[in-house]
Amino acid sequence: MFGIALAIVLTLSVSVQAKFPDDPKPCKYGDGECIMKLCNTLFSERSSEEDPGLNLTRLDPLKVDKLVISQGEDASPVGITLTFTDNLLYGIKDQRIVKVKGFGKDLTGKHEVRIIAKTFSLVGPYNINGKVLILPISGTGKSNMTMVNVKSIVTFSGKPLEKNGEIYLDVTNFKITMKPESTHYHFSNLFNGDKALGDNMNVFLNENSEAIYKETASAIDKSFSQLYMGIVKGVFSKLPYSKLFAEE
Ligand SMILES: *[C@@H]1O[C@H](CO)[C@@H](O)[C@H](O)[C@H]1NC(C)=O
Ligand SMILES: *[C@@H]1O[C@H](CO)[C@@H](O)[C@H](O)[C@H]1NC(C)=O
Repeated sequence: MFGIALAIVLTLSVSVQAKFPDDPKPCKYGDGECIMKLCNTLFSERSSEEDPGLNLTRLDPLKVDKLVISQGEDASPVGITLTFTDNLLYGIKDQRIVKVKGFGKDLTGKHEVRIIAKTFSLVGPYNINGKVLILPISGTGKSNMTMVNVKSIVTFSGKPLEKNGEIYLDVTNFKITMKPESTHYHFSNLFNGDKALGDNMNVFLNENSEAIYKETASAIDKSFSQLYMGIVKGVFSKLPYSKLFAEE
């Protein structure tokens, strides 16, 4: 929600160059304000299109083939393996970047993007097993995990990678941390479809969502980091770094 932003930086500067000669020029290296504005326009106006030229899929909704949240530390009152398969993630079009650092001419610097999103909803098939605050939980069905007013920080570094005589940014140390104001869960068909048990569990999860999120936050950040790193790496591996920014 996050990593995507970076992909977007590129998308915009490149498509602006290619398709819209009268539009504002691509951003200069390191011009955080310019990058932020371009990205935000892109989120609101073009999130529903894919861009094969940039190796970028549709961002909203974003297809999530598989995302596993695995939280198994002994000391934690939450021990779960939660697997989402063939899900859709909604919300990227309404996220806004509030700060961009990095993206200078020297691609090995640290890059950072701060983003605020109204909601992110991950919707689709799930499987869960484990315990949540002492209670056992299990089920397979459809779920909707929604995070509201999410503040995210994306950071990564770059290594130069030479391909066909051009220098590409090879993404390293990619990391996202997300802080939602609140989180809402809905899991259908918990406990083999036992409706009373399932309904009670959904109520319980939502009443304790803050505590649950706290226990699972680092596992969630880790799996979302992997998801977004794939997208960002895909874009940076498609286009030489110098093609993404205007000269001074
Ligand atoms: C997911 O749940 C949120 C509320 O928690 C709701 O606003 C949203 O419409 C739901 N999304 C889908 C696709 O059902
Ligand atoms: C496009 O992105 C995918 C990952 O999303 C990557 O495996 C592939 O190498 C990328 N293609 C190019 C031409 O960079």
